[in-house]
Amino acid sequence: MSEALKREAARAALAEVRPGMRLGLGTGSTARHFVDLLGEKVAAGFECLCVPTSEVTAEQARGLGIPLTDLDTIDALDLTIDGADEIGPGLALIKGAGGALLREKIVAAASARMIVIADESKIVRELGRFPLSIEVNRFGLGATRRAVAGVMAAHGAEGGLSLRLRSDGEPFVTDGGHVILDASFGRISSPEALSRALFDIPGVVEHGLFLGMCKRAYVAAADGVKTVDP
Ligand code: A5P
Repeated sequence: MSEALKREAARAALAEVRPGMRLGLGTGSTARHFVDLLGEKVAAGFECLCVPTSEVTAEQARGLGIPLTDLDTIDALDLTIDGADEIGPGLALIKGAGGALLREKIVAAASARMIVIADESKIVRELGRFPLSIEVNRFGLGATRRAVAGVMAAHGAEGGLSLRLRSDGEPFVTDGGHVILDASFGRISSPEALSRALFDIPGVVEHGLFLGMCKRAYVAAADGVKTVDP
């Protein structure tokens, strides 16, 4: 995946940003380009107020002088720009490879619009080739893991379930203090039903299926950036 393509998608989304907007800032390598470009505009005097979706993005934005707030201080956002792991039919998404899915979903849900930026490798005919991130409470992890495995079996998952680890072998811990299970489905034929089944498990805090939330995608390819609407 080319960083140049990610940056072009980010640049296309920047054209949607108007002075005074309240923005949600996504997480990941593509969203990082958007924050960089927004930082350039802010340095040139552009005014906006932003809510970051992770501590990593907050640190980047602070470094660039982008004014930050939170969803306790303001009621709603105009627009959130974020990346995705997969973009399926109707702009259904899988997100969460960066581990920020909980804050990403809270911020997207508080926004009038969510736009995704990506290179063309993220477009799929059916979700599920990319492992689904499932953020779970650390208490009762074994029980939650068994329940998730049961849901996977019921939904015809072709792959396994693993606890996300850091490079030092310790569990990856999210900004919310939870851990992540990576569930390899292979294909997800009923995303809505899967979403409901996962939320029925008490230890599941959030999952990476973003359904009906994304209103536009800017997808960069070698021949230019395409606008995709649901
Ligand atoms: C972060 O938790 C994720 O949802 C990212 O937005 C997603 O993984 C896309 O990341 P990249 O832009 O790095 O591919």
